[in-house]
Amino acid sequence: MLVLIGSSPQEVARLAADQVLAGLKFHGAGSEPVLGLATGSSPLGLYRELAVAVSEGRADFSRAQGFALDEYIGIPDTHAQSYRQTLINEVCSVIGLPREGLHVPLGVAESVADLEKAAAAYDESIRQAGGVQVQILGIGANGHLGFNEPGSSLRSRTRIKRLAAQTREDNARFFEGIDSVPTHCVTQGLGTVLEAKRLVLVATGPGKAQAIAAAVEGPLSASCPGSVLQLHEDAVVVLDEAAAAGLTQVQYYNDSAAGISDADLHLG
Ligand code: GLP
Repeated sequence: MLVLIGSSPQEVARLAADQVLAGLKFHGAGSEPVLGLATGSSPLGLYRELAVAVSEGRADFSRAQGFALDEYIGIPDTHAQSYRQTLINEVCSVIGLPREGLHVPLGVAESVADLEKAAAAYDESIRQAGGVQVQILGIGANGHLGFNEPGSSLRSRTRIKRLAAQTREDNARFFEGIDSVPTHCVTQGLGTVLEAKRLVLVATGPGKAQAIAAAVEGPLSASCPGSVLQLHEDAVVVLDEAAAAGLTQVQYYNDSAAGISDADLHLG
């Protein structure tokens, strides 16, 4: 796992964007970028930096596909707080990803069985697209990834989940009070997330310090779904100093951040 710590919101956003761009395929036949998208405030600066890369000709999302991590159940996908609308406003229109390329789990159907069928089809559609090249992630204060709340199976697939009370409280600010926050969602499973080639998680602020300490340095455990990053072969965690405050190995992470060159190893 690579842990990068930025000293300003701009640096965090830039570091994260560089890691995302390095993992995407922009050129060559059949190499349209396939990006995994997260909602939340944490990746907003990263999306703005991707837009800068587009304006400078370093990136192009006009033929990209984006797969959302999750969606609320029970609000139409035209609702302003649905994750489809959120991603259209905060990602598609910012980085130039066409709406036709945006895939979001289905949150409205006639029955649980239909939602489950659609969830399984969602995993299949990710496979059909060749898999997610880079999955952007935030983390909940309780360690959730997507909406995989504590206790989620580490091998779970896209499915229906109940939202934790803390998550509903955290997200009540986007709704007219706690009673309007949906109780359930459809979320990519942790097993689904782990299939992305690269994971880039962004976390900022003191409210995330405990979750980050558990995810990065705690035991691998369903009690902290974020700890599943420890199983991935190419996971990058980008933090500000406040979110990194609970980590014990910061010096090592900073020493390792520059990567490994021939010169470092006295080779060549
Ligand atoms: C929501 C989303 C998560 C996101 C989390 C943290 O619950 N489902 O994908 O990571 O919130 O959000 P924020 O970045 O705003 O703290």
